[in-house]
Amino acid sequence: MYGMVHRAARQMVLDQHGENKWAEILKNSGLGNESFISATVYDDSITVALLETLAQHFNTNVDYILIEFGKYWIQFAYNGDYKSVMNLTGNDLFSFLGNLNRMHDSVQISIPGARLPSFLIEDATQHTISVTYASDRRGLEPFVEGLLMGLMKHFGHDGEVRMVGPNNRGVLFQIILATP
Ligand code: HEM
Repeated sequence: MYGMVHRAARQMVLDQHGENKWAEILKNSGLGNESFISATVYDDSITVALLETLAQHFNTNVDYILIEFGKYWIQFAYNGDYKSVMNLTGNDLFSFLGNLNRMHDSVQISIPGARLPSFLIEDATQHTISVTYASDRRGLEPFVEGLLMGLMKHFGHDGEVRMVGPNNRGVLFQIILATP
């Protein structure tokens, strides 16, 4: 997966646990002195090794790490180099989700090796947005859950994100807003 994702994982550990913890994690992951360059596509096995080592270190499972990482990623994107792209994608949750594919498509042009997911809004009311996530990768659903939670929070809503399950286009999620 694209190095930007690994850099964000590194930043999350640095922010929350400091330099020594990151050094320890890298040492134990078998990834050596990998500093993770943003503009490089790494094999997915490296992403998996990194996630598994993080889970081991924090005494939890990969799914939990993915949820937390999804939430973190949204903050990371809005506070760093991706701020303007994020702001251009939408001013509210519904329009952001509606423009997400176009934004990912524009990323694809500059990173030919990237395999980006797609999102389709199936249905939306004032309280609930149903969205299908489609990807050729498996197992990243908890990451999507965390990302959607992060977006919900960013746009000032309370509520919850539920993974409903597979449909014939991908995996269906529901965002249920307590504060529309
Ligand atoms: C400025 C904002 C964003 C940029 C530049 C961006 C770009 C990328 C890139 C480069 C990848 C890696 C693809 C690969 O290496 O094959 C990726 C993966 C992914 N992105 Fe984004 N993204 C952004 C925001 C978002 C947001 C807000 C979501 C929220 C739902 C999202 C959902 C995902 C998911 C789920 C993946 C994992 C890949 C997969 O499922 O197959 N992205 N994105």
